[in-house]
Amino acid sequence: VTTAAVVPAAGRGERLGPGTPKALRDLGGLPILVHAVRALVSARSVDLVVVAAPPDDGGVDDVRLLLADHVPMANVVVVPGGASRQQSVALALDHLPLSVDVVLVHDAARPLVPVELIDSVTSAVRAGASAVVPVLRVSDTIKEIDPGGRVVRTIDRSVLRAVQTPQGFDRQLLAEAYLSAAAEGIDDLTDDAGLVERMGHTVVVVPGHEEAFKVTRPFDLVIAEAVLARRRSAGVMA
Ligand code: C5P
Repeated sequence: VTTAAVVPAAGRGERLGPGTPKALRDLGGLPILVHAVRALVSARSVDLVVVAAPPDDGGVDDVRLLLADHVPMANVVVVPGGASRQQSVALALDHLPLSVDVVLVHDAARPLVPVELIDSVTSAVRAGASAVVPVLRVSDTIKEIDPGGRVVRTIDRSVLRAVQTPQGFDRQLLAEAYLSAAAEGIDDLTDDAGLVERMGHTVVVVPGHEEAFKVTRPFDLVIAEAVLARRRSAGVMA
């Protein structure tokens, strides 16, 4: 029995501004993806990492070479991703060996995920939960607005949680969820656990970590650089 981590890394990252695909942009001298894969490879609970690379010309080879410069590749596989995050994850799932029974799905765009969070998600699945998501309370008040931009209502903040990755799953359940989504023509899901919820299965939460945030906009890169600088000055390998 083994645990595999699937890493969708094929996104353009348009909200970050024009340029190379988001996963390949620089963070503290290394591509964002390298940080994410390093964390997964270092996690004791992860046996195999499958990266879905940008599918354009040379994307897979470029990503493989780039990772090989910084990460031990014995347990890392790079495959072509797809046109949506959902397709990228589905393509990576197709490459898992039969022995894999637990799958984590982790955004390349969350490069500073702590290793402890990765292991805690795996443990929760191994302890019997078939779907696990790390969550944080939200610090802003969230309002629903109508198409005209007027406030419809304010949602009670105490029941809201922001969801991070890695999300962890029983492999069979996640594979079924992806197959049924494809059969129904759904192609825009950004939350893997959402698929499992739709099938009526329980999704369990574990405490997330503020350093597992997603790099989406330029400001997020500023924060990520600061977190990395703090880790490096504390002597943590990063
Ligand atoms: O754009 P966003 O931040 O929501 O993307 C989340 C993750 O999904 C990123 O790691 C991105 O590289 C990945 N993705 C992908 N294939 C796509 C689009 C996004 O692997 N076609």
